[in-house]
Amino acid sequence: MLKKPFLMIPGPTNVPERVLQAMHRPLINHRGPEYEVMFQRISLDIRKIFQTKQPVLIYPAAGTGMMEAAIVNILSPGDKVLALSIGVFGNRLAEIAEKFGAKVEKLEFAWGHQADPALVAQKLAEDKNHEIKAVLMTHNETSTGVTNDIQALAAACSGHPALRVVDAVSSLGAVELKMDEWHLDVVFTGAQKALMLPPGLGFLALSEKAWQAQAASTMPKYYWDAALLKKSLVKWQNPYTPPVTLLFGLAESLTMIEEEGLSAVFHRHQLIGEAVRAAMEALGLGLFADKAGASDTVTSVLVPEGFDVKKIQQHMRDVYGIVLAGGQKQLENKIFRIGHLGYITPSDVLLTISALELTLAALGKEGLQGKGVKAAQDVFLAELSKQ
Ligand SMILES: Cc1ncc(COP(=O)(O)O)c(C=O)c1O
Repeated sequence: MLKKPFLMIPGPTNVPERVLQAMHRPLINHRGPEYEVMFQRISLDIRKIFQTKQPVLIYPAAGTGMMEAAIVNILSPGDKVLALSIGVFGNRLAEIAEKFGAKVEKLEFAWGHQADPALVAQKLAEDKNHEIKAVLMTHNETSTGVTNDIQALAAACSGHPALRVVDAVSSLGAVELKMDEWHLDVVFTGAQKALMLPPGLGFLALSEKAWQAQAASTMPKYYWDAALLKKSLVKWQNPYTPPVTLLFGLAESLTMIEEEGLSAVFHRHQLIGEAVRAAMEALGLGLFADKAGASDTVTSVLVPEGFDVKKIQQHMRDVYGIVLAGGQKQLENKIFRIGHLGYITPSDVLLTISALELTLAALGKEGLQGKGVKAAQDVFLAELSKQ
């Protein structure tokens, strides 16, 4: 049967037709005037999504590149850092810092839960000599489907000079994050999540304090050197060849976000997150993430007893064209993840839940048809009645 391929994974996400069309054009000279006009507009508009007045640097990179860029730009070998981890990506950032010679103290929290700001405050209070140079945190832990309270974590750092470094790869542009107002020092993200683009662009912003640390940092860097990008940005240029095609796409996706309005984008993600969670509960499927931090960009669902997660994914993909993500590391075979960020609408969610009900029925869990869909519909109806 004909299927439409559809990504319900937490990145790469579905790219809107408008963005695809915008990229479908001949290249321009990246040292020419047309490019400079476009790059200026993009560079200014992306600051609105970071909610910062600082320059946002755009690298040709995956999210992991931005993790490395964040570390090598602000630290020197031997610097002590406090790395908060609630899952795979918190661990990865800690590992990168360690590889580049930082002394990493890890503060790990149970997977499925948020990091506890009180414990962070306590650790920093114990650091009387201010040896800790940075606190590393993940805004949205994609592997567990948990969103940290970054505002509270940043507040827990107040009174200590450590830089607050935030991985916002699977949250920025979908979940509120106020870089300047919350006093965040380093924030980074990638293109292939809420920004509705194909993979290949990384975004990094530093506060004034982080720029001072950048000037003093001695970790080795060339490609990631933020000072190089900042210098070129004054002329709306890049120090090396930019992925011009992806930037055409970015210009269009930023227009789409502006048309919808950033707060409306956040609200859409909240509503959809709520609908997905309500549907899973109505289907009797357990949610892995603690309610307090349940992510509005990805929902982690416990695999029902006796079910093979790969069979669920396979049936969804082969019969309905819908791609779900599995669990990572110790969550492999224990959860599947429904990504719902970026170019995602209530209709997409209703379709996915309906297909999941049919998949569960086909694999032996009968009698659920319509239950999850109704729970999600109720969330959307309640929203309509407010308008
Ligand atoms: C929170 C988070 N950080 C970092 C990354 C790494 O991004 P990439 O896969 O583009 O290297 C991801 C990817 O899913 C992520 O979700």
